[in-house]
Amino acid sequence: MLLRSMFAENYRSLRSIRMDLADVNLFIGENGVGKSNLYRALQLVQSAVRGRLAHEIAREGGMSSALWSGSRRTGKPVRIRFDAELLDEERAMTFHYRIEAGLKPPKAAAGFAFEPQVKEEELSVETGHRPVTMMKRAGPGIFVRGERGRMEDYPEQALQSETAIALLGDAGHYPEIGSFRRAVDQWRFFHGFRTDRDSPLRAPCLAVTAPMLDEDGANMAAVFATLYHTREDTVDLDRAVSDAFGGARLDVPHPEQFAEFSLVLPDFPQRPFSPRELSDGQMRFLALAAALLSYRRPRFIALNEPETSLHPDMLPALADMIASASRDSQIWIVTHSETLASAVQERCGVRPQRVIRKDGATWIDGMRLTGLMDDE
Ligand SMILES: Nc1ncnc2c1ncn2[C@@H]1O[C@H](COP(=O)(O)OP(=O)(O)OP(=O)(O)O)[C@@H](O)[C@H]1O
Ligand SMILES: [Mg+2]
Repeated sequence: MLLRSMFAENYRSLRSIRMDLADVNLFIGENGVGKSNLYRALQLVQSAVRGRLAHEIAREGGMSSALWSGSRRTGKPVRIRFDAELLDEERAMTFHYRIEAGLKPPKAAAGFAFEPQVKEEELSVETGHRPVTMMKRAGPGIFVRGERGRMEDYPEQALQSETAIALLGDAGHYPEIGSFRRAVDQWRFFHGFRTDRDSPLRAPCLAVTAPMLDEDGANMAAVFATLYHTREDTVDLDRAVSDAFGGARLDVPHPEQFAEFSLVLPDFPQRPFSPRELSDGQMRFLALAAALLSYRRPRFIALNEPETSLHPDMLPALADMIASASRDSQIWIVTHSETLASAVQERCGVRPQRVIRKDGATWIDGMRLTGLMDDE
């Protein structure tokens, strides 16, 4: 499923912003304009679907930190709102999910002060006619479209910190809700792989077939082993490694209990280097290769500043991998690198969108209120 549009309101610097998304979305902009907040808004939609929204908001400092701190429209309740619209191209169906969360009233019994209190949630599906509500939640009560096509009361109530979409997805009786949930669950967000000595990238990795890279990169060696020994097609990966490291190649033995790999550099053909010996930039590039060229590509891959600690000479090879991934995946890239932006622009034919601040809030240069760009 393709993420067609998103909307975010009252979340950090996202006062109210709606954006239509393309197959490849490339964002540039100064520090602090809200690029990561946009990325994070989508991550929170995924957290809602996974039943982890309260945990994630608490982890980033709670609702008082997450709520837009500028002036608000009076008379409206203070709520963070996220919407995501996904298109199932095969079935020509559009899914629309909306979630609104507010603060705990000071004297209310249930819930904790830092948690979001989910006030409303709705999932609707459109097949060319009018949208049909599949699930609607107001406060603790959940209504869901049952097998006979009628809206029914769901027998369980949701806690204020829980999301109905996660509760219902678990129930397994609602195929549309299940397919929306699975699609969002597969989105992958990669931001700054750890490369210190104790990083998961450098640790031994159990040899379990790995069609996709984990967000912390912990199964990187298993992703490579899966490509070499299950798919037996590593053309893109071999080319990327060779281009990035001046003719180097990966050595990926058939794994026993643990998956392993080493990098063979042309200057030392007899002496392969293990992950513990490679540099931070080398490890980051390899992790990005595993993220972008994995056996099964996530439908949606977001990369936040992937150029971090990479030398500019590596960026064309990174752009090649992004272009290759974009054949199967929708891509979201935030970058500070003009070189990477223009290399991606050249390969994918998309113009970078400049994220700016307008009256303190995040905005896209040249975007109209509807989310369309001026020239569309
Ligand atoms: N609750 C809030 N209300 C309004 N603005 C906020 C709130 N919380 C954070 N911000 C603003 O969001 C900005 C940070 O946004 P973000 O991290 O998305 O920036 P960025 O564009 O990714 O920058 P960088 O390029 O440095 O990573 C800060 O400037 C901060 O002022
Ligand atoms: Mg950022």
